Amino acid sequence: ILALEHPRPMKRPVPEVHPKPGARVPRLWRQEVERILITDDQIARRIRIMAREIVRDFAGREMVVVSLLNGTVMFLGDLIRNLSLPLRLDFIGVSSYGAGTESGELVFTKELRLDMRGRDVLLVDDILDTGKTLYRVLGKLRALKPRRIKTCVLLNKAARRIEAVEADYVGFEIPDIVVVGYGLDFAERYRNLPFVGMLHPHVYDQASQQVKPVRPGKAGRQGGD
Ligand code: IMP
Ligand code: MG
Repeated sequence: ILALEHPRPMKRPVPEVHPKPGARVPRLWRQEVERILITDDQIARRIRIMAREIVRDFAGREMVVVSLLNGTVMFLGDLIRNLSLPLRLDFIGVSSYGAGTESGELVFTKELRLDMRGRDVLLVDDILDTGKTLYRVLGKLRALKPRRIKTCVLLNKAARRIEAVEADYVGFEIPDIVVVGYGLDFAERYRNLPFVGMLHPHVYDQASQQVKPVRPGKAGRQGGD
């Protein structure tokens, strides 16, 4: 009877993360990284829980995982090794061109190759910020007529939202701060950090003083994906 009253187990609440002194930044990164926001252990534990929810929701269907380049590189690897069901994998490349860390104009740099028609799609991104990226990509995906699309992001910055888009699976809620590591970049660097952290202000200041290469007819590329 209980099972009838609760046909699906409730989703557990998404953990909220606030910067606080905690794990020590490895010596190698101490000059640039001010603090660790989410440790590799916290990430790993959270991903296992998210993966269980996804497996439950996609059981019995052959899923296509569509991942956004390049920021999902670590998250995707850890997520799919915990997805114990048949799946296919494809990538979309999106880059934002614009000033600083703001999301500017979106350019597709890699198109999908797999057929999405009638498929159950899990769209994966590193972070949901203004929502402009997921909004654009969701529009593009829907036109390919999948059976359904669920969205999954490691991080959610709800305070920054401009487009009305929410993710079905969220790893961590974070405040309105720029974060790097675990796939996330600042000016294409720091993707290889095994944790999610914050940079010292001097790193951003230095970067904004550097002269950036300029694409013909475009602003200098700074925002990563
Ligand atoms: P949105 O289109 O504003 O939602 O931004 C999504 C994209 O912006 C993400 O896929 C990231 O590539 C990038 N982004 C947003 N916030 C951050 C951040 O704090 N650090 C690194 N990249 C970010
Ligand atoms: Mg990205």
